[in-house]
Amino acid sequence: MGYIDVIGETKRYVTGETTIVANNEVTFSIEKGELVVILGASGAGKSTVLNILGGMDTCNKGQVIVDGKDIAGYDARQLTTYRRYDVGFVFQFYNLVANLTARENVELASEIVDDAADPVQTLVDVGLGDRIDNFPAQLSGGEQQRVAIARAVAKNPKILLCDEPTGALDYRTGKQVLRILQDQCRKNGATVVIVTHNAAIAPIADRVIRMHDARVQAVQTNDIPEDIENVEW
Ligand SMILES: Nc1ncnc2c1ncn2[C@@H]1O[C@H](COP(=O)(O)OP(=O)(O)O)[C@@H](O)[C@H]1O
Ligand SMILES: [Mg+2]
Repeated sequence: MGYIDVIGETKRYVTGETTIVANNEVTFSIEKGELVVILGASGAGKSTVLNILGGMDTCNKGQVIVDGKDIAGYDARQLTTYRRYDVGFVFQFYNLVANLTARENVELASEIVDDAADPVQTLVDVGLGDRIDNFPAQLSGGEQQRVAIARAVAKNPKILLCDEPTGALDYRTGKQVLRILQDQCRKNGATVVIVTHNAAIAPIADRVIRMHDARVQAVQTNDIPEDIENVEW
């Protein structure tokens, strides 16, 4: 048994007459504290997996076992608790609240849990100590993504789920963001899952889950993950 075991997970979206199978018998395991990349082309089913892992969507079939509990069997109330305490989520387009400062955006998340990290310290940790009272519109894309990461990690989540976190960023800023995510895993012991269509990112992971056409095509582990400095795209 892994820390996370997804077993035969299947998700269908029904719109009118058409049914799309977004995840087809998806099976993989993740160990605690790993940095995992889920890699695949657009439409492969990556975000669907992440949303189901994060308790934001539910599957039609299969098991999603996280730390010994099958969240696929959770009701809405149990999923709310799971999302609140166990999961941090980072989105491609940051999803910050525009009329709240960086600090207030992080406080939104830290205030809903009991043992949150200090919001200001979390912003200092992602290199934004001097931008704490700025609004999102006053920050660059990379800075906004770092606020979003601070918001996700301020809750001290066991699992950090990131959907194309570097997708909207330039190369250099993307690397900074990857380094912060890697630190969450190496220094804080979080289990970090990064979804990307960018194959160049895969070598930095402990485990790479390749998806194609709603299925897991291959799972590969890297005994010695590549340093972020050495990956190019
Ligand atoms: N809410 C939804 N309703 C209908 N179809 C969806 C929905 N979300 C995703 N899909 C479809 O499921 C498939 C997989 O989508 P997604 O998981 O977003 O892929 P990826 O993140 O790899 O690009 C796609 O064909 C997509 O159009
Ligand atoms: Mg996606």
